[in-house]
Amino acid sequence: MTEEFQTKIVKIDENNLKEVLEEAVFWLHKGFPVAFPTETVYGLGASVWDDESIGKIFRAKGRPADNPLIVHVTSLEMAASVVSEIGSQAQELMEKFWPGPLTLVLPKKSELPLSVTAGLPSVGLRMPNHQIAIALIEKFGLPLAAPSANASGRPSPTRAEHVLADLKGKIPLIIDGGQAIGGVESTVLDLTSQPPLILRPGAVTYEMLLPYLPDLIDASQIKDREKPKSPGLKYVHYSPKATVGLYCGKESDVCGAMTKDLARFKAQGQKTALIITSLSCPLEADIIFDLRRSSEQEMLKETARHLFEYFRMADSEGVDRILLQGVIEKDLGRALMNRMRKAAKEMFVFDP
Ligand code: TXA
Ligand code: MG
Repeated sequence: MTEEFQTKIVKIDENNLKEVLEEAVFWLHKGFPVAFPTETVYGLGASVWDDESIGKIFRAKGRPADNPLIVHVTSLEMAASVVSEIGSQAQELMEKFWPGPLTLVLPKKSELPLSVTAGLPSVGLRMPNHQIAIALIEKFGLPLAAPSANASGRPSPTRAEHVLADLKGKIPLIIDGGQAIGGVESTVLDLTSQPPLILRPGAVTYEMLLPYLPDLIDASQIKDREKPKSPGLKYVHYSPKATVGLYCGKESDVCGAMTKDLARFKAQGQKTALIITSLSCPLEADIIFDLRRSSEQEMLKETARHLFEYFRMADSEGVDRILLQGVIEKDLGRALMNRMRKAAKEMFVFDP
């Protein structure tokens, strides 16, 4: 694709907020997608009602046309403008978890363009918990369809610079709101199926949703062969250029395997990066990303916040091999293991 724009990246503060939002809305009205921060990852937004702008999102990202977009709203009225019906179950979840990282898949309103939902009769929607995202949608006055603002297949962007690295020349404006606090994409919960399904785990966890949906199924835990289809799930995701090996299980086994593999990669002249979440054994690599924290909850949050960033940092350092330590698959750990598995080419599982 030829470079169409001199992509502008603007750091937002109280002094320029109004002006930057005006510029963003100008581009949205002109029919060009704009990147903006949310609490999970950066999004690339366009009006849900503008078929042509939606097409530009797909082209800028190189996104397969059959992968639907998430619609971002700031009120229940706005939600009601794109779905045919908000049932009592959905309303309860909206009241409890919105604004926040929970995308609800509901039956779409027939008027909503099929380009947004990639031809599906349902639409995924969420209310972002981020001041700038909310101010932008409010100022524009209409829901914004927005996938993550990365090039398709790359790790989701948690900083404006990541968006620039992937979409430079392809979009007019990136609103820089600093580092995304969450770092993994929203939970996608399908309420059109019975029982309800978690299609993509996120920071609103299975454990948090279960009290509201007793028959809830975490579809991300079902083995690949039997998995219900969510359009986005079949594509390669989150992959850094480096080859990722994922190591899970008992510390002594993981340490042993990593020590051996690090020595082998070193002998082969490969550049290595280690991402560790709890190991305490001495390990030597070219780069070490240390996510160990004093509490498990803190470690999980920090891992969510930094995982994609560390993948991208390893890539810019020309790393060949990333050795990644897994986490326990509960609470936020479900979302993390889901992203880690997708990024990994090799997985080594030892008994816990
Ligand atoms: O946190 C997030 O969700 C970020 C920020 C920008 O809001 N957005 C995001 O969008 O991650 P995206 O496009 O990268 O991922 C959307 C996921 C895809 O896996 C897609 O298949 C799924 O949501 N999805 C969207 N609409 C759907 C629908 N109607 N039925 C099933 N899955 C749907
Ligand atoms: Mg994405």
